Amino acid sequence: MSHYFIDTHREDIVNLKNINQTYDNGKVVVLKDFNLLIEDKPNQGQFVVILGASGCGKSTILRYISGLQKPTSGEVNLYGRKRIETDRVGMVFQKYSSLPWLTVLENVALGLYYQGVSKKEREEKAMDMIQKVGLKGHENKYAQYPTLSGGQLQRVAIARSLLASPRILLMDEPFGALDVNTRLSMQDMLLQIWYEVHPTIIFVTHDISEAVYLGDDIYIMRANPGQIVEHIYVDLPYRRDRFIKRTPRFEELVHYTEDLMVKVDAISAASKV
Ligand SMILES: Nc1ncnc2c1ncn2[C@@H]1O[C@H](COP(=O)(O)OP(=O)(O)OP(=O)(O)O)[C@@H](O)[C@H]1O
Ligand SMILES: [Mg+2]
Repeated sequence: MSHYFIDTHREDIVNLKNINQTYDNGKVVVLKDFNLLIEDKPNQGQFVVILGASGCGKSTILRYISGLQKPTSGEVNLYGRKRIETDRVGMVFQKYSSLPWLTVLENVALGLYYQGVSKKEREEKAMDMIQKVGLKGHENKYAQYPTLSGGQLQRVAIARSLLASPRILLMDEPFGALDVNTRLSMQDMLLQIWYEVHPTIIFVTHDISEAVYLGDDIYIMRANPGQIVEHIYVDLPYRRDRFIKRTPRFEELVHYTEDLMVKVDAISAASKV
């Protein structure tokens, strides 16, 4: 196990152990001895950010946790035991993942429907969330392109995953398709929900400033093969607002992370076959 993860005997939320992912009968090695341990922080949750070059295996890791894919070898453990089929985690995909045959309102309320919440209550809660993500007035439209724009569809998917209040929430470049203002307000909305519900969030992004703003722990992955090689503990206050981005410590952390990314990229490039 890599030295980045110190077992403090708190409950393990996610524990990926010695994962290998290969394709073409072992000729393509995507992940090798990959480890990731995320322990619960009671009444606080965890906000983990993963940074890494395109193709290093970030989405693959999220797919293991959500149960969409099984590794070639290695262990996928949730809540201190092997992952089971019925483990439900929230996931916002890199590409829009709204259900086009349902309206915006039905999409957002879907998690509550599965939880057996009454129609009236789930519609009230869904409308509240629709308002929060700035889609009021669109609730009765079908969640499909081009009726809704790409960024609007992504907000439908985000609203749906947040409203279901999962204990684990996986977010794969969720804000990549949004305009700058919407992206900033979605970051703050996500933080507010995190403070309220404190799920464990695993967030993939290519935006270093976003990583430092949102994350408590940032892990940087190398590629060829994919592995976590750097850990940054973000020593900013637990509660943040956008003005923190103007502090010297924030800027220092962004520069530090950027330098590590450059270093890790060089290591990955050197081992490319
Ligand atoms: N069936 C397959 N055969 C060979 N290689 C595959 C197969 N499926 C996935 N891969 C490779 O696995 C690697 C990891 O993919 P993944 O989608 O996890 O990357 P990522 O880190 O999420 O990249 P991005 O930042 O671009 O989203 C990629 O290099 C991809 O080419
Ligand atoms: Mg990806």
